[in-house]
Amino acid sequence: MFAKKTVKDVDVRGKRVLVRVDFNVPLAEGAVADDTRIRAALPTIRYLIDHHARVVLMSHLGRPSGAPDPQYSLKPVRRSLQRLIGRNVAFSPEIVGEEAEEAVSRMIDGEILMLENVRFDPGEKSNDPEFAKRLAALGDIYVNDAFGAAHRAHASTAGVAAYLPAYAGMLLAREIETLTGMLSDPDRPFVAILGGSKVSDKFGVIDKLIDCCDVLLIGGGMAFTFLVAKGLEVGDSIVETDWVEPAKKMLEKARDKGADLILPTDFVIASEMTEDAETRVVGRQEIPKRMMGLDIGPSTVELYKGEIASAKTIFWNGPMGVFEMTPFETGTKEVAVAVGRNNRAVSLVGGGDSVAALKKFNLEERVTFVSTGGGASMKLLEGAALPGVDALLDK
Ligand code: 3PG
Repeated sequence: MFAKKTVKDVDVRGKRVLVRVDFNVPLAEGAVADDTRIRAALPTIRYLIDHHARVVLMSHLGRPSGAPDPQYSLKPVRRSLQRLIGRNVAFSPEIVGEEAEEAVSRMIDGEILMLENVRFDPGEKSNDPEFAKRLAALGDIYVNDAFGAAHRAHASTAGVAAYLPAYAGMLLAREIETLTGMLSDPDRPFVAILGGSKVSDKFGVIDKLIDCCDVLLIGGGMAFTFLVAKGLEVGDSIVETDWVEPAKKMLEKARDKGADLILPTDFVIASEMTEDAETRVVGRQEIPKRMMGLDIGPSTVELYKGEIASAKTIFWNGPMGVFEMTPFETGTKEVAVAVGRNNRAVSLVGGGDSVAALKKFNLEERVTFVSTGGGASMKLLEGAALPGVDALLDK
């Protein structure tokens, strides 16, 4: 159960509600290229409007250097939000201070105002109490709905909660309930699929999943570190040498726990990572020198599809290969299709790359839950504290 108070636990009528959202979305040619995160924040924003609040939105976008930078302006996001929500969204180029306060004071119940990118102020990332206090001056209550940024202890995600009563938004609450529920009480068999290039990024998550899943399917570049840990030669495939020993221990832990940690049995290999690379399929013992594995092979695909088909709970994070390039996309595509096809299972997908893969293959609608958090969902799953959640009022 989610142990924090949510926006539904407070009377918001007539109140200035300072809402942190995660509108860190990709832009292309001055427009929002993917509005998933904006759409995900709509329920909370709509709820607040319907309950006659004055909604002051704040978000970061990209990683500016703590000063205004037009390429990271939230103006295109404001346009996208206006379209999606079908009403005017006022915009304050000032994040804090007199002009921002005046803009807020002009609002009437049910109106929305968006502040410019909070990372244009150096006090955001340093979690400067003065900056947090100035943000707090714009609201009567604070709502954090930015699940994707909840692992950041910044002024707008955590610091501001020291100065205002702080509640969770509906998206944040749902993300946490869904992901923690998966760990604590999954329908079984629970099959987790982890990919991506680095084992170091996912080690904590693998460790946690071994404790609670029945089968763990490994793909992507991280598989090679595990294979080296098993004593195999992997040619020029990506290996994190510092992680070979920990990977060995992880294999032992999986064995002791009775979790099935399954590694690919074959790979699509090439000597270069290009769109027109010449590819070959080889067994995992047969990767020659100067060649690298860039996707899981067809036997592995079949093996993984079988496991996915019999699952009742599926968690997927990270691609199986370099899916952005046609010669190496099949493994990821087949896994995505298999996840989408199992409609008896609760399927959860987290992390930027696997979500991008779902979108690339038009399978987003086929899974039960797509997390809006990359780093945040990984931190949550590995059991790390989320400052943006810890700062909220307890139930
Ligand atoms: C994300 O995109 O994962 C979040 O918005 C956090 O962004 P950050 O990694 O720049 O803090």
